[in-house]
Amino acid sequence: MENNRENFGSKLGAILAAAGSAVGLGNVWRFPIETGQNGGAAFIIIYIVCILMLGLPIMISEFLIGRHTHSNTAGAYRILSNGGRWKWVGRLGVFCGWFILCYYSVVGAWTMHYTYLSLTNAFSDIPATQYGEIFSAFTSDPWIPTLWLAAFILIAHYVITRGVQSGIEKFSKLMMPTLFIITIVLVVCSVMLPGASQGIEFLLRPDWSKVNSTVILGAMGQAFFSLSLGMGCLCTYASYFEPSTPLAKTAVHVSVIDTLIAIMAGFIIFPSVFNIGMDPNEVGAGASLTFISLPNVFNQSFGNGTFLAIIFSTLFYFLLFVAALTSAISLHEVATAYITEEFKFSRRRGATLITVSLLVLGTVCSLSFGPLADVQIFGRNIFSLFDDFSGMVLLPLGGMLISIFAGWILDRQLYRDEISNRGDIPTPYFKVLIFSLRYIAPLAIGLVFLDQLGAFDILKK
Ligand code: TRP
Repeated sequence: MENNRENFGSKLGAILAAAGSAVGLGNVWRFPIETGQNGGAAFIIIYIVCILMLGLPIMISEFLIGRHTHSNTAGAYRILSNGGRWKWVGRLGVFCGWFILCYYSVVGAWTMHYTYLSLTNAFSDIPATQYGEIFSAFTSDPWIPTLWLAAFILIAHYVITRGVQSGIEKFSKLMMPTLFIITIVLVVCSVMLPGASQGIEFLLRPDWSKVNSTVILGAMGQAFFSLSLGMGCLCTYASYFEPSTPLAKTAVHVSVIDTLIAIMAGFIIFPSVFNIGMDPNEVGAGASLTFISLPNVFNQSFGNGTFLAIIFSTLFYFLLFVAALTSAISLHEVATAYITEEFKFSRRRGATLITVSLLVLGTVCSLSFGPLADVQIFGRNIFSLFDDFSGMVLLPLGGMLISIFAGWILDRQLYRDEISNRGDIPTPYFKVLIFSLRYIAPLAIGLVFLDQLGAFDILKK
């Protein structure tokens, strides 16, 4: 339909952009600790099985829906459903992306502040017990996190307004290799620490006795979030793929990059944790791992206030910042493409509208650690409400609907034509793919969904 739409200029650009979306905070602040605590290599194997059984089929479907329609996510489902009720899946996706971005940007902003703190050697001579206070003093401040938030969102805005090729693609081609190099440098520094082998053992030693249904459901949820599935990020990016981009191969590349970075993040974190003799079960997860435990762990491991400690810590938070930014850009693009195409706005105006809304709601999320801390909805502060509602409700719902749509509703011939690039690529996996989309994925995601809503809590006790 829209014939003056931009495309990614190269296949590499397409892969790096999609990988930029996938590689994000989830890879660093959840995957390593989940792996270490839930059976090491056993967890990784389960995670990979989840990717093969659910992740790839859904990613390929999202790619296909985007590329076939050359449209934003809402438009894509509207076109494919001929305006029927399945169009709501696309709209849900756009809403979900925007919703995630509101709180994701807040954390992106924190990574900027921590990059700055590391660079200015703010962690030297700080007793281990004070890192928590530093973090809560920072997040509860009404101004500093808000200013970083504005900076974070405006950088994403700048890239988005430059367009698909000279914005998103160019930026991904610069940032993803940078991210990869920083990761490798950090891994190398980390594994040279005394005691590193214990950390690696913690991360990798297979322990099947830890694997139970909760762990498996956790692995599925993690695979889903980490691969940016369930709302149309990859569908939007795929709408910029060239007709010759091989969809299944690209999906495999993106999944491999995402998983490698996640595993390497574990190699960055655990050698240091063991090096200072800390109990890995005490480091926490998510924000407390990243902003309370790790600054202390790195500062102690590499020598309090030394050059090496400064460099290591600065690079680590910068890495997180880049990872978060490229993911944020992909989320922003979903909403921008929607506004621009469905309401015929110019790219600049569409992006500005989204950015302004993000600045407002993001600030509200950010202030929920400070002046708005007392505002509790369903027993959560506003930030957690955004986080939980998108992670526990919108994403699983979206993922389930997408797999049902792709498996049951979408025309089989259209599916086949699109993944084979109209017969150019053999697709021996076609039947397995459809089987997964029809039965395995909806069922599995349904279970994750029920589990996250607490339906199985009685059984677990
Ligand atoms: N995958 C990213 C991460 O690991 C976050 C992300 C970006 C995302 N786009 C998404 C998550 C879409 C779910 C859906 O941090």
